[in-house]
Amino acid sequence: MQKMLVEGGHVLNGKVRIGGAKNSAVALLPAAILADSEVILEGLPGISDVHTLAALLEEIGGSVELEPGNHAIHIHPEKMISMPLPNGKVKKLRASYYFMGAMLGKFNQAVIGLPGGCYLGPRPIDQHIKGFEALGAEVTNEQGAIYLRAKELRGARIYLDVVSVGATINIMLAAVKAKGKTVIENAAKEPEIIDVATLLTSMGANIKGVGTDVIRIEGVESLHGCRHTIIPDRIEAGTYAIAAAAAGEEVIIDNVIPQHLESLLAKLREMGVTIEAGDEQLLIAPGKQLRSVDIKTLVYPGFPTDLQQPLTSLLTRAAGTGVITDTIYSARLKHIDELRRMNGNIKIEGSSAIVSGPVRLQGARVKASDLRAGAALVVAGLMADGITEITGLDHIDRGYEDITDKLTSLGANVWREEMTPQEISQHQNS
Ligand code: EPU
Repeated sequence: MQKMLVEGGHVLNGKVRIGGAKNSAVALLPAAILADSEVILEGLPGISDVHTLAALLEEIGGSVELEPGNHAIHIHPEKMISMPLPNGKVKKLRASYYFMGAMLGKFNQAVIGLPGGCYLGPRPIDQHIKGFEALGAEVTNEQGAIYLRAKELRGARIYLDVVSVGATINIMLAAVKAKGKTVIENAAKEPEIIDVATLLTSMGANIKGVGTDVIRIEGVESLHGCRHTIIPDRIEAGTYAIAAAAAGEEVIIDNVIPQHLESLLAKLREMGVTIEAGDEQLLIAPGKQLRSVDIKTLVYPGFPTDLQQPLTSLLTRAAGTGVITDTIYSARLKHIDELRRMNGNIKIEGSSAIVSGPVRLQGARVKASDLRAGAALVVAGLMADGITEITGLDHIDRGYEDITDKLTSLGANVWREEMTPQEISQHQNS
């Protein structure tokens, strides 16, 4: 087990290249189950979630080859079977729930352990299940695994009570081969949903309306293989934009779709950060003194919950008081205690964090409790006096490819060290 050390105070400059979108990749890999021939996914991020999902595809009989450099994957679904996956790797990440929709869509049955992933407070999947049932599946929960069985899947009209990325994608996966027409109302509109629909369409699916809140799907008999290039990761790009605003002079973020980040860029500009947006690049140059802003997370195109935590760190160096309210995951506040340990002046009231600044953060020993909390601590470490030691890197490595190398290439002083047995036991008991 390793820890990350960040020595604060080094100015970031230069260019960083963003990888493929994690939250697309984790749906695109299971979506390949639905094809009858080879699916090639290009531009994948080099993160542990991709390796876990590739191993799960092999567990159900698929053959999977990662190209050297690991950025393209060839998936052969021909020999896949509806193997139950009640335990093991499915518990490692939340997105394993996409095996439910994909396997139900392909085999009319699936057994999938309840997903793990970051703990952000309760994360129900009732809307996914509501969708599967509407399509004709019988869904039961037996000893911590979800059993899905259908004689046949038939298109249906499904209104999502909560706008959900996962439920929208999962229902699309289950519906693309169902008989007749499916309409998903109050669907989520995130770019990752459009990416999954683009893959499914290249496989032969008939999907209309993605990117709006009504998605219409006409079921098809079969789906074929194809080649697909994944979109860039807007959350990774947003994290580097925040890091650049926190500790940068002039940082270019390359391989980004600026429109996917409009809510963040608007807030950074309000804070006094200069931003130039090109076709696939962003230039970030922070002003001398940043001003505080209030943030309320919302579904896309609102401010993303996944960037709320790194932005909290940035607010510690802004003048004034900023209120951050997460309306998607009200308990996504685990980073606050750690930022306080680093001298952050932050209060929690209900589901809001009230950040007063500017303060000088101090390096400390801190723990990443989830993926984006980890990103928040890295951003804090870049600004802090002295060295910040971050444990819980398994979370960070689930979503940020080559983060140590990317930050180093920008001029940060970041490295990893093996933890001693004593540190491991302290980490596990904290
Ligand atoms: N919800 C329900 N019932 C459901 C599904 C969701 O009540 O059946 C609620 C959730 O509790 C939450 C809200 O609806 O309050 C939105 O949840 P959503 O389903 O959209 O989230 P998700 O699909 O579980 C994905 C990303 C998250 C990201 C959220 C919101 C993946 C694998 N995960 O989660 O990403 O925070 O959308 O944008 O795509 C991350 O990358 O760090 C991460 C957690």
